[in-house]
Amino acid sequence: MTVSSDLFSAAKSAMEKAYAPYSKFLVGASVKTSSGKIYSGGNVENAAYPQGWCAEASALAAMASAGERRVLEVVVVAKGKDLVTPCGGCRQKLREFAADNTPIHLCSPEGWRRTVTLGELLPLAFGPEHLTE
Ligand code: THU
Repeated sequence: MTVSSDLFSAAKSAMEKAYAPYSKFLVGASVKTSSGKIYSGGNVENAAYPQGWCAEASALAAMASAGERRVLEVVVVAKGKDLVTPCGGCRQKLREFAADNTPIHLCSPEGWRRTVTLGELLPLAFGPEHLTE
């Protein structure tokens, strides 16, 4: 699998605008929704370190604030030798709006590296359906 250029470009642009003066580790994320629209964001750090948040959280906040609720595909872009996957907290945040089989494309600024599913990253997840069944 690879990734569509529009979804990748949105995440890469968000990475370039990330605010990470403390870690210097810039991350961008984008989500494609059931309407076909794309929302993106970068990590936003804070002098009070724990108050910073991840790129995935920024992208999901932009999406939810636009009234959208269904994520069909995700891109995460960051530099580095190792693959960058969403942190544990962001896996749970993604699970609120995405199904287990949702593809998450892990990319470097040069392009696609690997695709995993949300279910692989967060098996046996607790999700919104647990509160409605
Ligand atoms: N970070 C993200 O934004 N997303 C990830 O998937 C991994 C980590 C951020 C959080 C922090 O600002 C910086 O990367 C270093 O941990």
